[in-house]
Amino acid sequence: MAKSSFDVNKLLSQMTLEEKIGQLVQFNASLFGSSAAEITGPLEKLGVSSEQLKNVGSTLNFKGAGEVIALQDKHMKEDRNHIPMLFMMDVIHGYRTIYPIPLGLGASFDPELVKECSEMAAKEASAGGVHVTFTPMVDYVRDARWGRVMESCGEDPYLNSVMGAAQVKAFQGDDLSDDDRLATCVKHFAAYGGAEAGRDYNTVEISERLLREYYFPAYKACIDAGVTMLMPSFNSLNGVPSIANKWLMKKVLKEEWGFEGVVISDYNAIGELKKHGITDDMKKGAEMAFDCGCDIEMMSSAYINHLADLVREGRFSEKMIDNAALKVLELKKRLGLFEDPYHGASVEKEAAVCLTSEHRAISRRAAEGCAVLLKNNGVLPFSKSVKKIAVIGPLATTNEMKGSWSCNGENEDCITVYQGIKNLLPNAEVVTAQGCGVEWDNFDRSGFDEAVELAKSADAVVLCLGEYQKYSGEGNSRIDICLTGVQDELAKLITAATPNTAAVVFSGRPLVLKALDSHAPAILEMWWPGSEGGNAVARLLFGDANPSGKVPMSFPKALGQCPIYYNHPSTGRPKMTPEEVHQGYASNYIGEGNLPLYPFGHGLSYSNFVYETLELDKTTMTKDSEIKVSITVYNDSDVVGKEVVQLYMHDLWASTVRPIQSLIGFEKIELGARERKTVTFTVKETMLRFYDAECNFISEAGEFTLSTGCADNLLLTKSFTLEN
Ligand code: NOJ
Repeated sequence: MAKSSFDVNKLLSQMTLEEKIGQLVQFNASLFGSSAAEITGPLEKLGVSSEQLKNVGSTLNFKGAGEVIALQDKHMKEDRNHIPMLFMMDVIHGYRTIYPIPLGLGASFDPELVKECSEMAAKEASAGGVHVTFTPMVDYVRDARWGRVMESCGEDPYLNSVMGAAQVKAFQGDDLSDDDRLATCVKHFAAYGGAEAGRDYNTVEISERLLREYYFPAYKACIDAGVTMLMPSFNSLNGVPSIANKWLMKKVLKEEWGFEGVVISDYNAIGELKKHGITDDMKKGAEMAFDCGCDIEMMSSAYINHLADLVREGRFSEKMIDNAALKVLELKKRLGLFEDPYHGASVEKEAAVCLTSEHRAISRRAAEGCAVLLKNNGVLPFSKSVKKIAVIGPLATTNEMKGSWSCNGENEDCITVYQGIKNLLPNAEVVTAQGCGVEWDNFDRSGFDEAVELAKSADAVVLCLGEYQKYSGEGNSRIDICLTGVQDELAKLITAATPNTAAVVFSGRPLVLKALDSHAPAILEMWWPGSEGGNAVARLLFGDANPSGKVPMSFPKALGQCPIYYNHPSTGRPKMTPEEVHQGYASNYIGEGNLPLYPFGHGLSYSNFVYETLELDKTTMTKDSEIKVSITVYNDSDVVGKEVVQLYMHDLWASTVRPIQSLIGFEKIELGARERKTVTFTVKETMLRFYDAECNFISEAGEFTLSTGCADNLLLTKSFTLEN
């Protein structure tokens, strides 16, 4: 669509104060429902009249183009100025065709794949009437008990930054008026993932230095990538809820980063200032949030009921309201809504573009690219000539493969593992037994015998385990992150019955898989893989696809290790290896030690990748120069595969304690049989900077190392010196 020439300033000049404030309000679509009965109760609860509703500028929680078009038509008739509404939705990992959860995308280490998935989601969602998606979520996480780890790309700030920026660019494209594009909203600013003890919505207390070094970079990367909107987090950050946190919202976001996009509160976050014990006066709440630069209030009524009074009382100038309203109107203009209020959506288009075979193929490839082969003693890939396959376990025949935040995805659209294997091997005999349940409090062992007998009768066993998909996502923190119920017991019996067994794990977080690891010959982590999960699993297990994902968040050996992350600061007594554990006092757990079961960056392949050399083009660097690092990898096998070449940096001496390793680069490459490739990274002085004790972002002269491999298994290392 041609760029809009609509005059938003003229429109603004014709609007009353209340109408302008209406643009700063977002309510659920159900509140605009057609029958009075549908809306009266909820509106009363919010203290909002149906007259006020006519001015509201945006909505969320609707379903499909049909509803969007009807609502848009109705609203534009009722609004005196006929302003189209913005339709916003959480398009997190697909709209109708669901691809793996963001933690899985993190595991792919593949920004190109993320781009492909996001473009697909944008195409489907915009056909369904969505204008803005509340994505990407780039909350940095270290505690897998938190249910929302599934929405982020894990424990590395750089990985989160790359993946977040890739999503922003792919969803938005070059021009938001393009019918296939959505505006994006980065969230949840800030440090929502730092919730104490992994309990959702819990308080967050983190030093400024830590915030800046680990938690902030991904939000900033999304801003630099051109994200349109930003959502402050629910949590209090160092004592003040984000929505009212002046340091965060005014000093960091506006003054330092110069963010000029639209800020939207999270759902009822201004209302929740009451529960936080900050104020029970919603006029005060409106004042605090607006003062902090929150433009749109989602699902509470502080703005709609109090902002006008705050202007009349002189607390805010009308100009300030104008500026906020103008930002919203500008966004509508950028999306081309004044010319086409549906942004190209239609019922027919939605039906035509959603869940096509082309989109299913993208989703399947994504599920394959995100899968991590955690362990393989050689049983995988299974031979395709096996005659009888037993698919066992509580997740063997379930189509609940989507994971939380699956938008309009339906379970019925998801391929089960059982079905996937039948699709791939139509001539094999495929049998199944559940064995046990997946609920945390299900200790029923009555299905064990049948499952074991079936496993014994098969040539290969696929053991489908994990956590219930409803156990991750918003509000779903777990007190333990083990395989739920009696799955470990089942796994022990099955693996003893048939050595040719591979476990497939589905989860929204790293689970504690120590027991499984001790007896399963192979473990494939699938996360929540989406619509094509079962087909992807089958292809991976039988060698039609080669696993290439890497762990984006450490898998602990035991829950007590949480929070566990590879990039932790050096300690004064760093006893890390099993041999060293018993040598005196150390920063170490008795028995288990500190190391995770599977470290960040770990992931096996059916190819055999050999890291041959790591070369630096020079061994000293000045502030204006850069170093080229070349890493050569050889595929010493006949299997084509993809490898994530990772570059880690360690600053040996600095005025503040530095992490033992930091990822500063990665590239996913494909290597043919017996093929060799060299990947080159450029290291600049800016990549060596850190926050000193006074929070200055500096680099300090001295010695550094550059290594490749994965976090706890660095294969090649070279050092260089940074000069003043
Ligand atoms: C609450 C969640 O925290 C946020 O991520 C989401 O975008 C909004 N609800 C809207 O659904």
